[in-house]
Amino acid sequence: MSDKHEVTKDPITGAETTGHVWDDNLQEFNNPLPRWWLWAFYGTIIFTIVYWVIYPSWPTGLAKDGFIPGTSTLTFKSDKIEDGKKTIAAGPEVTTHWNTRALLAVQMQTDPNELKRQTMVKKVAATPFETVAKDPQQSAFVLAYGKGIFGDYCAACHQAGGQGVIGHYPNIIDDAWLWGSESADIETTIRKGRKGNMPAHKASLTATEITEVSNYALSLSGEPVDTALAEKGKGVFNTKGCSGCHMPTGVGMKALGSANLTDKIWTQANVPGAKDMAAKVTAVEYVVENGIQREMPAFESRLSNDEVKVLVAYIKLLSAE
Ligand code: HEC
Ligand code: HEC
Repeated sequence: MSDKHEVTKDPITGAETTGHVWDDNLQEFNNPLPRWWLWAFYGTIIFTIVYWVIYPSWPTGLAKDGFIPGTSTLTFKSDKIEDGKKTIAAGPEVTTHWNTRALLAVQMQTDPNELKRQTMVKKVAATPFETVAKDPQQSAFVLAYGKGIFGDYCAACHQAGGQGVIGHYPNIIDDAWLWGSESADIETTIRKGRKGNMPAHKASLTATEITEVSNYALSLSGEPVDTALAEKGKGVFNTKGCSGCHMPTGVGMKALGSANLTDKIWTQANVPGAKDMAAKVTAVEYVVENGIQREMPAFESRLSNDEVKVLVAYIKLLSAE
């Protein structure tokens, strides 16, 4: 090591050295940072300071919110909460320091595409379904936007395509309904939820009666059952309570959500999946023995009325296809 500090020029390249010399002759070139780089670096420091002033930055116990809120503010209309129900952007105007939540609120209230979406939602909600179905612009909107809400809230149970899972969640695009096909019925289903309830019959019927009535139930939709058993089953059906809920003809009752047994559509008994007639009877027997308790949850606290109306139109469009 040496302590020589003499600025010299390197004889070969002609470059200036820093003047430090190690190990007798090892020297360091003096290559200053390029000017443009240096200024860019200073620029980032200035940018940071300006950013600190404008936007929320340093956490500090002294500031009101626990951090320095910055000088930038956002103004938007707040949500109104009445009786636990939230109406978006219906409350008084509020101004707050810049934050991404408020920024989202501002964009939801000012972005031209978002405003267009809101206008369309209102329009669809206020239009009878028959008109929506005939209007290409409105039905295209319903299919696109409805798919999004359906995916978020309904697909977990009813599956992405709405086809349901037999024995668990009904198919809601097949135009066969437990609770009614009118827009108002479907709207009530979504807003208030539904409880499907068929009592278990294993205590009130004998095994023979269960086999007979199951054969009869299958005969109602034209299955090639044992006619003698089905004939006896008809008596059970009409005297042991089945007809009280499913109607004497077996078409079901919308007020109870009792299944129509005369169509070929099954939501609980896996008749379509059964490999032969005996398996079909077993599938129906299982439902008669054990009954059905299942529930469609209520969505009125999670979706706005207008969103529910769009969903109704979405389901009706899909089931009409
Ligand atoms: C937790 C599961 C679950 C979720 C989530 C769910 N449903 Fe249901 N849904 C059911 C069940 C179970 C039934 C059958 C109720 C019954 O047995 O009567 C049902 C029934 C329905 C019916 C009535 C079908 C008919 O034949 O009358 C409609 C319409 C419906 N759901 C639409 C929706 C929509 C729209 C959403 C999303 C907002 C949704 N469901 C979310 C479980 C669910
Ligand atoms: C208290 C009313 C009630 C009575 C009594 C009743 N059911 Fe039901 N049944 C229902 C309801 C409601 C459903 C639909 C439940 C659901 O989907 O959540 C149903 C569904 C069914 C199903 C399933 C249909 C399918 O699509 O998979 C069969 C089969 C059936 N009932 C047969 C019978 C028979 C046979 C009897 C008489 C032994 C009977 N039910 C008595 C209310 C009743």
